[in-house]
Amino acid sequence: MALIVGAMQTTQELSMKTAFKTVLITGCSSGYGLETARYFHEKGWMVIATMRQPREDLLPRSERLRVLALDVTRPESIAAALEASGPIDVLVNNAGIGLFGALEATPLATTREVFETNTFGVIAMTQAVVTQFRSRRAGTVINVTSSATLAPMPLVAVYTASKQAIQGFTGSLALELEPFGVRAKLVEPGYAPSTQFTANGQTRMAGLVPEAYVPQAQRIFAALSSPMVTTERDVAEAVWHAANDESGQLRFPAGADAVALAG
Ligand SMILES: NC(=O)c1ccc[n+]([C@@H]2O[C@H](COP(=O)([O-])OP(=O)(O)OC[C@H]3O[C@@H](n4cnc5c(N)ncnc54)[C@H](OP(=O)(O)O)[C@@H]3O)[C@@H](O)[C@H]2O)c1
Repeated sequence: MALIVGAMQTTQELSMKTAFKTVLITGCSSGYGLETARYFHEKGWMVIATMRQPREDLLPRSERLRVLALDVTRPESIAAALEASGPIDVLVNNAGIGLFGALEATPLATTREVFETNTFGVIAMTQAVVTQFRSRRAGTVINVTSSATLAPMPLVAVYTASKQAIQGFTGSLALELEPFGVRAKLVEPGYAPSTQFTANGQTRMAGLVPEAYVPQAQRIFAALSSPMVTTERDVAEAVWHAANDESGQLRFPAGADAVALAG
């Protein structure tokens, strides 16, 4: 009986896979990734919401929603998640970590840590799906970067570098994969005070603003308290537009502050 139920579930899963488009999103435990998972589910897609530490209580219980473990800095974790997910139509590389601090105070090990997630994690995830997309002649990779790439601001040099690398990577890759019917897109969110981004970076950023840089830091904090910010929904909508875009548009700024910078 258990076998029959198992077989029925597999068939049901397979028929759902053909009926719905499937998106796999990294970093869904909070913030932009969590809202993007909710949004695609609301729109009727099959959603594979990945998290370093999977939690079943964050998203609606649904046959169209699966939570899988994935740490984008670990090759075996990437392989296991993609094996478990089966074919996907869209990959959203959203997982990322922040860094605010003066370069002279930032240990190189911290710089490497930021690049491991924000840059190499994105490249590794993309590389892991590109063969299935190319051989199917379909598929979209959406890389979530930052409005920090649109206009330079002080005290985020390392973070901006990690995201700017992905801007260049994605632009080149879009051209490389275009002949195979595969798309690569950028979503460039602005500043969101409501996600876990700052809280998640507190330990990493401790002590990275020496006295000489405090006036600059204060000016940035004052600027960030502007009411023109980005919401989780802004990013989810931009990712949705990128996933469904057929115009060849590469860059999708998300949030009022990012749109103003991009203009
Ligand atoms: N918030 C902003 O102001 C802002 C502005 C521009 C761009 N962004 C970008 O937007 C994306 C989402 O940020 P957010 O604001 O939503 O921040 P968030 O709430 O901190 O979410 C980041 C997510 O990334 C995950 N993550 C971190 N390292 C990971 C790894 N090695 N493997 C897999 N997942 C990992 C986190 O998981 P854990 O819970 O396990 O740590 C979390 O789910 C990031 O790429 C960020 O750089 C944010």
